[in-house]
Amino acid sequence: AEGDAGKGEKVFKKCKACHAVGDGAENKTGPVLNGVVGRTVGTGADFEYSSTLVDMGAEGKSWTPEELDAFLAAPRDYAKGTKMSFAGLRKDTERADVIAYLSTFTE
Ligand code: HEM
Repeated sequence: AEGDAGKGEKVFKKCKACHAVGDGAENKTGPVLNGVVGRTVGTGADFEYSSTLVDMGAEGKSWTPEELDAFLAAPRDYAKGTKMSFAGLRKDTERADVIAYLSTFTE
């Protein structure tokens, strides 16, 4: 189902300790997420990714909405060895909404 970007902004509060979006966003514990939807995995500027994400990108994976949904449901199961220490978003709607929100930020 299509997500609701407005609701996704609220869901993104769970991500903000580690991620920024929007004008002037900078890398924190996690990479800036502007432009992440559709981008090759592990290729944000000036961020030191785990070899797990670097390897996924090298294999040609990109962050389609489907890949993001799978990752955000269970980051450490989907990407074994990732350094994203986050349990995941259990609810389908939360994932769809936060992906819709992220889609509004281009590079
Ligand atoms: C990586 C989204 C929560 C830390 C990523 C990536 C995405 C993402 C899409 C991959 C970026 C890329 O390949 O360029 C989210 C969302 C969150 C969330 C939507 C909330 C629902 C968090 C939290 C933390 C965190 C709470 C810190 C405790 C990281 C780190 C990476 C990462 C360190 C790099 C992982 C690696 O290199 O293995 N995140 N994240 N994230 N995130 Fe998050």
